[in-house]
Amino acid sequence: MAVALVLFASAAARAGEAQEGYLLVRQWCTSCHIVAPNQDGSDAAPPFESIANDPNFTEDGIRAWLSDPHPPMPNLNLNRVEIDRIVAYLQSLRN
Ligand code: HEC
Repeated sequence: MAVALVLFASAAARAGEAQEGYLLVRQWCTSCHIVAPNQDGSDAAPPFESIANDPNFTEDGIRAWLSDPHPPMPNLNLNRVEIDRIVAYLQSLRN
């Protein structure tokens, strides 16, 4: 019972984090990426849904990319908390 409760609480925290991440990407990433499935947007860069479902996608890889992106993607100077939230959001897009 206690274990189930702890698991539930951490899943809920993760969902909340993904929601925060969605708010961040809507603000900062839509000019180049399609950030949510079935959404119109720029096709200048890979849509987040395909990044999230790419077999090469790893949490560490995305973290490394976001803390030091390569051109043509600009460095958005994201802090750790923001990166955690964006990673949680990307994971929520996995099919
Ligand atoms: C000014 C345009 C621009 C903005 C704004 C931008 N990106 Fe990108 N992003 C790109 C481009 C272009 C690429 C592809 C780079 C490449 O493949 O060499 C890319 C690639 C990526 C990748 C790696 C994809 C892969 O296959 O390795 C991730 C993850 C990513 N962006 C996340 C984000 C996030 C999160 C934001 C918002 C916080 C963001 N980007 C904002 C242009 C942008």
